[in-house]
Amino acid sequence: MVVDLMGLLHSPEQAEILGAGTRILMAVEPPEVLAQMIPLPGDKTRVMAADARLRAAKKMHITSAAGTDLRVDLGQFKPLPEYGFADEPGHWDHWPSGFISTWPNEGSANGRVVIDVGDMLFPFKMYVSTPIVLEIRDGSIRSIEGGFEAKYLRKHIESYRDPGAFAVSHIGWGLQPRAKWTGLGMRDKSQSLGMDARAYYGNFLFSTGPNAEAGGTNNSPCHVDIPMAACSVSLDGEPITVNGDVVAADQRVSA
Ligand SMILES: [Fe+2]
Repeated sequence: MVVDLMGLLHSPEQAEILGAGTRILMAVEPPEVLAQMIPLPGDKTRVMAADARLRAAKKMHITSAAGTDLRVDLGQFKPLPEYGFADEPGHWDHWPSGFISTWPNEGSANGRVVIDVGDMLFPFKMYVSTPIVLEIRDGSIRSIEGGFEAKYLRKHIESYRDPGAFAVSHIGWGLQPRAKWTGLGMRDKSQSLGMDARAYYGNFLFSTGPNAEAGGTNNSPCHVDIPMAACSVSLDGEPITVNGDVVAADQRVSA
C-alpha cells in the first residue's frame, strides 16, 4: 500500500501502481482536518450505495431554486467512489473524503447551472458573492455571466486557450456529515486542498474540464471544482438529494 503525501493524482505513475493491484491512500490535509474526518465504515456503505445507484442510472437531473436546471446522460463512464480508506487491491482513495462522482456521457450535458452566493470555486478557494450563470449546450459551457466572480472564472478558463477547458467534467454529491461548509473560510488557503467543501453532506459538486481520468478524450489541464449548496439531484426521476439534503434512504445519515 502507498500513502501518497504529495499528490500523484492524474499521473501515469498512479495508474501503473494501481494496475499492479497496489492500494493508494492520498492524504495531504493538515492534521486537524484529518482528525475531523477520520473515515468510518458507514462512510463506505453509503458511498458505495451511491456508486451502485449511479452505475444503474441513465440520466441525472440537477435543479435549484437559484435557477440551475441541468440534464446529463450517464453510462459511458464508471463512477468514482471516495470514502476515505484504501481497503481493496488496486483501490485509490483520499482521506478525507466521502462523496461520489461520475462523468456525463461526452456531449450530453445540457441546460443551465447557477452558481449561487456561498457556493465555492476551486482552485481559487473562494466563496461566490454574486451568482454566476453558466449556459451549457452539448457538453460545453457556452457563456459565463454574472459579476466579479463570473468574470474571474471566465478569464481563468479562457486563459488556457483550450476548447476542452469549457467541458463539463465530473459531477456528483457529498455524503460526509463531518465535512463543513464553513471549512474553507476557517483556514489559510495554502494549508488545505479544501476537502470540507468537496465532501460536505448534500452538496452538488459540479466541475469543468477533463474527463481523460475516467477514460474520455478530453485531457484539458484546466479543471475547476465547484461545490454547490441547495441543489436537488435526481437519477432517472428518483430524488437523491433535495435542496442540499440527502433523501435517498441508502445514503442518508439518520439524525
Ligand atoms: Fe475535481
